[in-house]
Amino acid sequence: MRTRTLPVGFGLEIEGLDLSGPLDEATRTTLRGLFVDAGVLVFRGAGTTPEAHIELSRVFGDLELHSNREAWVEDCPELIDISYRPVADGPETGVQPVYEVDGVPLAGWLAWHTDQCFIPRLSRGGVLRALQVPTHFGRTGFMDKIRLHDTLDESVRARIVDQRVVYRFEPRMDRNRHAVPRTARLLRSSAAMDSLVERLERDFPPVSHPLVLTQRETGRHVLNFSPCYAVGIEGMAENEADELLSVLSDHCAAAAEGAYFHDWHVHDLVAWDNWRMLHQAEGCPVDETRLMHRTSIAGDYDLGAFA
Ligand SMILES: [Fe+2]
Repeated sequence: MRTRTLPVGFGLEIEGLDLSGPLDEATRTTLRGLFVDAGVLVFRGAGTTPEAHIELSRVFGDLELHSNREAWVEDCPELIDISYRPVADGPETGVQPVYEVDGVPLAGWLAWHTDQCFIPRLSRGGVLRALQVPTHFGRTGFMDKIRLHDTLDESVRARIVDQRVVYRFEPRMDRNRHAVPRTARLLRSSAAMDSLVERLERDFPPVSHPLVLTQRETGRHVLNFSPCYAVGIEGMAENEADELLSVLSDHCAAAAEGAYFHDWHVHDLVAWDNWRMLHQAEGCPVDETRLMHRTSIAGDYDLGAFA
């Protein structure tokens, strides 16, 4: 196994990992260490089968069934289908809605977010696998929240110590107040999103998470903030909280220039630490197919709570 730091200064590309059979314990231990240390691991061309995808994912923890049951792969709910397939007519797509962002129609576009921050149990991470890629767009962005913490203005850092951010799930990206460009608008809904919207009130009450997290293994501080889904600060007046959330969102947006954007090839696998990385989906052209599966790694840091 050879490793190389990604050009952005965080994350690793790993070559020479054989996923054609079970991984030995020494390799698994090494990979777990790299996952915590680097935050995002890229395995070019290593995911030739669903079995390889699941074998790699299980290195980082048990797999959980994603809260978006609308996207489970039939007969294999550890795999979540986040594919986009063009449909000729009708108001809805299958899983991925279509937005217009800065004048460009993009299927499956997602703003910068932390997965599942809208439930108390914060998913440990995920592994993505590309099965078919579009000719352009379709990249996945990753941002390091340790770097985001360390580059925060000292006065802002003082304001967020011991504060808890409140999240509420809003699958319609254009309805999220922070993290979404003003130009973003929904062009076409999806059956999966409509089903989620229908059960929002019942299944997704507001939750809170600490704004600063200490990485247990290294003592490094993480800005534990997801611009998307953020709606308030616990115990803080709405105006003041809004202002603070805007400051944090602007900080993340400004840092996007230094983000890693993975340009997918078929059979790439990318694993990310959801306690450490923000991620984003660029979306794909509406007339092209993008087939992508993901896993969700279970785990909890025991710091989330219902608000
Ligand atoms: Fe995500």
